[in-house]
Amino acid sequence: MCGIIGYVGGKQAAPVLLKGLQRLEYRGYDSSGIAVVDSDNIDVIKTTGKVATLCEKANGGKKLNGNIGIGHTRWATHGAPSDVNSHPHLSADGRFCIVHNGIIENFAELKSDIIAHGLPFKSDTDSEVIAQLIQYLYDGDMISTLRKVMERVTGSYAVGILSADAPDTLYAIRKDNPLVVGLGQNENFIASDFAAALEHTHNFVQLNDGEIARLTSRAVTFFDNNGNTVEKTPYLVDWDISLAEKDGYPHFMLKEIYEQPKAIKSTLSPRIKGDNIILDKIDFSANNVNRINRVNIVGCGSAYHAGIVGKHFIEKYCRIGVDCILASEYIYSNPITDNRTLTIVISQSGETADSLAALRLAKKCGSHTIAIVNVIQSAIAREADNVLYTYAGPEIAVATTKGYTTQVAALYLVGLKIAKVKHIISDARYSELLGELALLPDKISEILKDTDKIKQYAEGYAEHKCVFFIGRNTDYAASLEGALKLKEISYIHAEAYAAGELKHGTISLIEKGTVTLALVTQSDLYSKMLSNIKAVQSRGGDVLAISSYNNKQIGEEADGLLTIPDCDDDVTPILTAVVLQIFAYYIAAKRGCDIDKPRNLAKSVTVE
Ligand code: G6P
Repeated sequence: MCGIIGYVGGKQAAPVLLKGLQRLEYRGYDSSGIAVVDSDNIDVIKTTGKVATLCEKANGGKKLNGNIGIGHTRWATHGAPSDVNSHPHLSADGRFCIVHNGIIENFAELKSDIIAHGLPFKSDTDSEVIAQLIQYLYDGDMISTLRKVMERVTGSYAVGILSADAPDTLYAIRKDNPLVVGLGQNENFIASDFAAALEHTHNFVQLNDGEIARLTSRAVTFFDNNGNTVEKTPYLVDWDISLAEKDGYPHFMLKEIYEQPKAIKSTLSPRIKGDNIILDKIDFSANNVNRINRVNIVGCGSAYHAGIVGKHFIEKYCRIGVDCILASEYIYSNPITDNRTLTIVISQSGETADSLAALRLAKKCGSHTIAIVNVIQSAIAREADNVLYTYAGPEIAVATTKGYTTQVAALYLVGLKIAKVKHIISDARYSELLGELALLPDKISEILKDTDKIKQYAEGYAEHKCVFFIGRNTDYAASLEGALKLKEISYIHAEAYAAGELKHGTISLIEKGTVTLALVTQSDLYSKMLSNIKAVQSRGGDVLAISSYNNKQIGEEADGLLTIPDCDDDVTPILTAVVLQIFAYYIAAKRGCDIDKPRNLAKSVTVE
């Protein structure tokens, strides 16, 4: 989704902005632009296409003088990707300039009102209305003007603002869209995420909904929606900027796949103390746990798939009914959620608009909420009653890998903790599973040590138009994620089916040469899966099975076999996920796809 960077300080702003935009490229975008205040003029350069094109157009930033500016990567919502629709947008008199993330829902009404007052519009965007509204409402005081603007607009926004009348000051406002303020030495930043400013500072402050930030090179002041100043405590983001570099890997996705042993260790080890699971500050006292009569897990995309794995695990060991619900469905479903419901909201970015709305709804219904989130201090992390950070480190590739597997790991911890407090799980099984979790990083490393066979199969299937994934129970949950990964980055049509459901329709799609990946890691379901494999083969389909080393029979029956290290059936989804990520990666690489930034997708979807 769109990205924002803003700078005020002693350096020439344009090169800083361009570098920041490069750091934001991973979020997904179709055009970009920068604006810099030079004396009392605002100069804008913008273009469709990659930030590299913008850099060329701006001669690496040399074309724009000035020490204060804003930059933007746009992911089109209102108005096609075009130079004119790209941000920044100027007001009609050229005195105000904005970059905007989000959607202004009442833009049409505001636009006709403003046009009626004689201010012409240039673009088809909803965002331009903010620049025009600032000019229209300007009363000589930017804070008071921005408060009036916020009263008039509805929707979601993070906005960076320049005013030619205040050539040393940068402003920002936000509602329901991420925006951080980075505090440097005689320089300050606004950014839609840390990555854009991390090479300049590790100290950040979150701008809250309804607040205004005013930044000069030496001071940052925050105002609430009544115009009163607000004190804020900065926090440290200890992510190393090198984590946001490719570090010799051809793609961030591959790098992040390889970071999984470390990422899983970071999720698990601070929370496993001997035989005890300590889940940060969450109060899992018997009283609290015994009150829970339902668990709802909510998320989007891969986070939702992680939730399905969690559902199986929690239901199995805690004997509580768990619903895993797509956030975008949950919010319009009149959900059964009350004060005995535990709601777990999963989100790598912590900023996904649907998941944030689901969290708010669950809280409104009286539910206790736990967020499983990667990005520190993100909106979902801040608004949930409790947060379990996955500590996976920055994830840059749009298709999540370590984000997903660490979410699953966190859900295992929650499930085991509840089961233990409820005394449902035997001590022996509990210890056994804790031991299995601790072994996961080494087992992932074992898969990563030799990926040739996965690559070989992947490249062999690269020209296929369609790939099916089948599995039962947790293997079905893992299939959903495997299929999503493949379609996201390779653009091959991929579908996951519960293996037993094949005969109710899907099997009509199987013909000679159709490829089906069969996930067979649940020992009590081997024979059932074998029948499903046979059913595919007897219609001419090819089956590539994924199973553990010790499952020899499947290897003999399927047309091909990829293995995961032997492990407990309950934790296989993390290992199969790694194999399927690598499989998707090499198919996409063979097809020459833009793996880290697949077409039309965004890393953090901050609009509904
Ligand atoms: C986007 C990404 C997916 C991700 C989903 C949820 O669609 O492309 O990879 O799973 O958002 O993101 P979240 O940050 O909430 O986990």
